[in-house]
Amino acid sequence: MVSNNLFKSYIEAGKAFLQQPTPEQTLRTGAVSGDRPVIVPIRSIGPSHRERIATHLLALSESDRYLRFGFAASDEQIGRYVEKLNFERDEIFGIYNRKLQLIAMAHLAFSDDPEFQNGAEFGVSVMAKARGRGYGARLFDIAVMHARNDGVDMMFIHALSENTAMLNIARKAGAQVESAGSESEAFLKLPPANLDSHMTEMVEEQIAQTDYHFKVQAKKFHDFVAGLQDARRIS
Ligand SMILES: CC(C)(COP(=O)(O)OP(=O)(O)OC[C@H]1O[C@@H](n2cnc3c(N)ncnc32)[C@H](O)[C@@H]1OP(=O)(O)O)[C@@H](O)C(=O)NCCC(=O)NCCS
Repeated sequence: MVSNNLFKSYIEAGKAFLQQPTPEQTLRTGAVSGDRPVIVPIRSIGPSHRERIATHLLALSESDRYLRFGFAASDEQIGRYVEKLNFERDEIFGIYNRKLQLIAMAHLAFSDDPEFQNGAEFGVSVMAKARGRGYGARLFDIAVMHARNDGVDMMFIHALSENTAMLNIARKAGAQVESAGSESEAFLKLPPANLDSHMTEMVEEQIAQTDYHFKVQAKKFHDFVAGLQDARRIS
């Protein structure tokens, strides 16, 4: 049963999402940061966002590309990765800033291996300047919820053993981490979906869509005003 308290917290979260979180705030849904809960609007994104995904990944430094992909992916390899993203099978989640830059994204890749049918692999990246604000952990939470609702019972993360931040996120969620030298694999067993997980996903997606459209409108207005100012300067 979805409780009244849960609905109230969704409403509070809806009010909170219009406020930009500070790095000091705890960002996981429902967590109390200072005096109020904060939610980070995370959208499920589609093929029309390929260019933004590419821009985000190409901005990663060589060492970040190594951490993200397990090798120092070249620009061409990133281009091919983005081109081949399968938006029908997989799920891509993104966090946008007010300038509509994709500042963080996660790829939940559903297995097509018959022996690992109910499994999915998680990969994530956060722009260097937006790290340490809980975005990586939030993307993980959203991916877990989405995977559960899609019948996944095991989530898999491949990380380098030096990747403390990623392994922290996985361990905190209860994943079992197996390290072999420089490489680590984390396995997280997921509980079956329930009404709460379906409702939470639905409401969070709605909040994220609203937030995104709000940012689109705000950016259009900002560009319009900037255009007027330019025209005034020229005349
Ligand atoms: C891994 C990554 C996604 C983490 O993103 P983030 O938004 O900075 O992470 P969060 O702010 O949610 O922090 C998650 C946890 O890691 C810890 N952490 C963050 N940065 C850390 C660092 N540099 N060293 C040690 N721990 C760190 C946080 O304290 C937090 O732990 P806590 O919940 O116990 O406080 C980001 O560093 C990144 O994009 N790295 C490059 C790509 C990559 O490594 N991807 C993962 C492999 S798929």
